Amino acid sequence: MRILVLNGPNLNMIGIREPSIYGQETYEDLCNKINKYCASRNIDVEIFQSNHEGDLIDKIQNSYNKISGIIINAGAYSHTSIAILDALKAIGLPAIEVHISDVYKREEFRHFSYPALYCKESIVGEGTDGYLKAIDKLINYIEK
Ligand code: DQA
Repeated sequence: MRILVLNGPNLNMIGIREPSIYGQETYEDLCNKINKYCASRNIDVEIFQSNHEGDLIDKIQNSYNKISGIIINAGAYSHTSIAILDALKAIGLPAIEVHISDVYKREEFRHFSYPALYCKESIVGEGTDGYLKAIDKLINYIEK
């Protein structure tokens, strides 16, 4: 089984960026954590981050027929990008959304998410451990 973990704009800045919201772990720490967890579960994982909406869309499209499911934290594009939602719909694979912070306890403009309209579940406010929970959930959906 091969999955894609997709991270949108500014997620490469965690550890530096607003640590009271996103924590002290760096993006490299997050990638190591995901890689280690997937290895322990015998899953192939590709982690991709981009600050550019079109690159995220290209990555989703290029995953068609190559992976079994997607974990997506589209960052601020979650709240704006119909195009990312359409790309997820286009390839039709199971997907789980993650937000490191609890978007529902933050500004109102963060309460709505386009990917959430497609994703099977959204995991919010559990810090970077939310990605590991999302991996478990995604595997369950893929195996169903
Ligand atoms: C985020 C929440 C978004 O509102 C924000 O724009 C991000 C990160 C999160 O992981 O909590 O960049 O997706």
